[in-house]
Amino acid sequence: MSLEFNGRRLTANDIRVRKGGEPIVALTSYHAHTAAIIDRHVDFILVGDTLGMVMHGLETTLPVTLDMMILQGLAVIRGSKRALVVVDLPFGSYEESPAAAFHSAARVMKETGCGAVKLEGGTRMAETIRFLTERGVPVMGHIGLTPQSVNTIGGFRVQGRDEAAQAAIKADAKAVAEAGAFAMVIEAVVEPLAKEITAEVAIPTIGIGASPACDGQILVLEDMLGLSPNVPKFVKSYGSLADHIEEAVSSYTRDVRSRAFPGEANVYKPKS
Ligand code: KIV
Repeated sequence: MSLEFNGRRLTANDIRVRKGGEPIVALTSYHAHTAAIIDRHVDFILVGDTLGMVMHGLETTLPVTLDMMILQGLAVIRGSKRALVVVDLPFGSYEESPAAAFHSAARVMKETGCGAVKLEGGTRMAETIRFLTERGVPVMGHIGLTPQSVNTIGGFRVQGRDEAAQAAIKADAKAVAEAGAFAMVIEAVVEPLAKEITAEVAIPTIGIGASPACDGQILVLEDMLGLSPNVPKFVKSYGSLADHIEEAVSSYTRDVRSRAFPGEANVYKPKS
C-alpha cells in the first residue's frame, strides 16, 4: 500500500499522537533514491548511524562522524517529501554534556532540514533529552541494545534477559518518556519486556527485535532487502537484492567479454 501525499511532511508530533493507534512504519535510508521509494510507504525514515556498517563496511557504528550523518541526512531529505526524517546523533557528538548535544543537534537540523534527531541511552541521557526538547529539538530515544555502547555491554547482545536488567531498561524507558522524547526505539530486548514498556509509557515505542506489541516497527533497509552480509535473527527477509546484483553483474560481464554489449540500442549514430 502506498500512502497519499497531502503536501506536508510528517512531524515528530504526528508520530507522537499515533501512540496506541495503527502501527507506525519506519525504515532506515542513507541515499536520495532509496529514500524516494520508501517515502511513499513509511511514516518516518531514520538516517541511522548503521550507515557506518552498511555503507562503509565498518565493524561498529563508533567511527561514524557528524559530517557523515549530515551528508547522508541531506541526501535523504532531497529524495523524500512526505515522511518525517530522523537523523542519528553519532557516538561522541552528544554524550559529554547537554550543551554539546544541542550544538550537534542544531548543526544536523540546520544543515539537513530533518525534523528530529535520535540519540542512544535511557536514564543517563534524560537530562540531555530534556535540554534539547526544551530548546526546539524533537528527540527520539533509543534504549535496550544501544550499539554505540557495544564496548561496554560486551557485544551486540539481546538485552533484558534477567530481572535486574529488565528493571534497568524499564527505568530507561520511563526516563526517556518523562524527559520529553516524542518516541523511542527499543532494540533487541526480550519480548515481554517491550510489551510491558509499551503499555506503560505515554509515547510510541518503535521495536527492532523487540515485540509485535510495540507501537511501530523499524528495520535497516539493506537488512530486509537481503543486501547485508550478516543480519540479526530479528530481521525478516523481504528480498534478495545481493543475488539480483550478482546475477546482473555476471550477465553484464559476460556481455562485455563476448562484445554483446554495447548493442545497436546503446550506441549513438551520426546524423547523416
Ligand atoms: O542506526 C540505526 O540504523 C538504528 C536502527 C537500528 C534503529 O538505530
